[in-house]
Amino acid sequence: MIDKDKIVLTGIKPTGTPHLGNYVGALKPLVEMSQTNKTVVFIADLHALNLIHNAKDIQQYSYEIAAMLIALGLNLDNAILFRQSDVVGVYQLSNFLMNVTPKGLMNRAHSYKAIVEKNTESGVDIDSGVNMGLYTYPVLMTADILVYNADVVPVGADQKQHVEFARDIAGYFNNIYGNVFKLPEPIISETAGIIPGLDGRKMSKSYDNTIPLFAPENELKKKIMRIITDSKTPEESKNPDESTIFQLYKHFANTDEVEKFRKMFIDGGMGYGTAKTILFDKINSVLSGPRAEYERLINNKTEIDAILKDGATRAGIIAEKTISKVKKAMLG
Ligand code: TRP
Repeated sequence: MIDKDKIVLTGIKPTGTPHLGNYVGALKPLVEMSQTNKTVVFIADLHALNLIHNAKDIQQYSYEIAAMLIALGLNLDNAILFRQSDVVGVYQLSNFLMNVTPKGLMNRAHSYKAIVEKNTESGVDIDSGVNMGLYTYPVLMTADILVYNADVVPVGADQKQHVEFARDIAGYFNNIYGNVFKLPEPIISETAGIIPGLDGRKMSKSYDNTIPLFAPENELKKKIMRIITDSKTPEESKNPDESTIFQLYKHFANTDEVEKFRKMFIDGGMGYGTAKTILFDKINSVLSGPRAEYERLINNKTEIDAILKDGATRAGIIAEKTISKVKKAMLG
């Protein structure tokens, strides 16, 4: 559990329609944290720009993410929800931080290094396909975290290094200019990244094996029925820990239900068809209420706009204070 007085912050990149893996690993824990803690959540549209050069897509995904968080019950008394690009302080801080960020730190970023390695292997220029948005991605992310005075940053394991960079950069700044920034800490969701997709590999857009979070009921059912299983007969005993069906079920059912389902796998007598129907009924019962609210919201964009605008105003006030402190420290 996180201390009640800690400020939680995270950004969600609008690069696709969120799926069950995102729900279990990121959205659900975030909604839970917003019940007890001050929470800053933004749609990281500036971070999408190094990849997506199409305004319509970014806008659509941004609305989807906002509507999902609200429909899932993000507590708007504790949480501010906004578009990253709507608060100028983050661009300003990013620019200031460039001057205390060693270039070598950016060279060590996993995401950048992966591209360099790929380019080296294929014999092209090491920086082929790398724009400055991608290269300086960790500085902008640091600005996100520091401008709103975040204490803890829940992220997937792939983003841990970026949060550590934010901590490093805050430290470099403080060393030169005095104690201006708090040092943020990453929280890595244990479940993130291990939700299996339809083919049993990690659920991920890049494997094309996802189940969209708010797929309509019939689509949800179809997808679940397509989960790949082994060829055991209904009578045979099955290993729940190797079954995608059971692994997904675990995240939606309570402890008693999970134990009961586990036993049904081990005892035998349940075919995979039946198991899939049980999984569908469970997921559907958990998500049908939020799905209806999501549908309502996504068709009422003005309502989403109003929430995002209010969030941006509140975030802007915090950011402005940080920027004036930074300006004073750096420029007098
Ligand atoms: N880079 C994060 C991702 O790809 C999104 C993000 C942007 C973020 N700014 C952030 C996450 C600040 C945490 C804090 O998932």
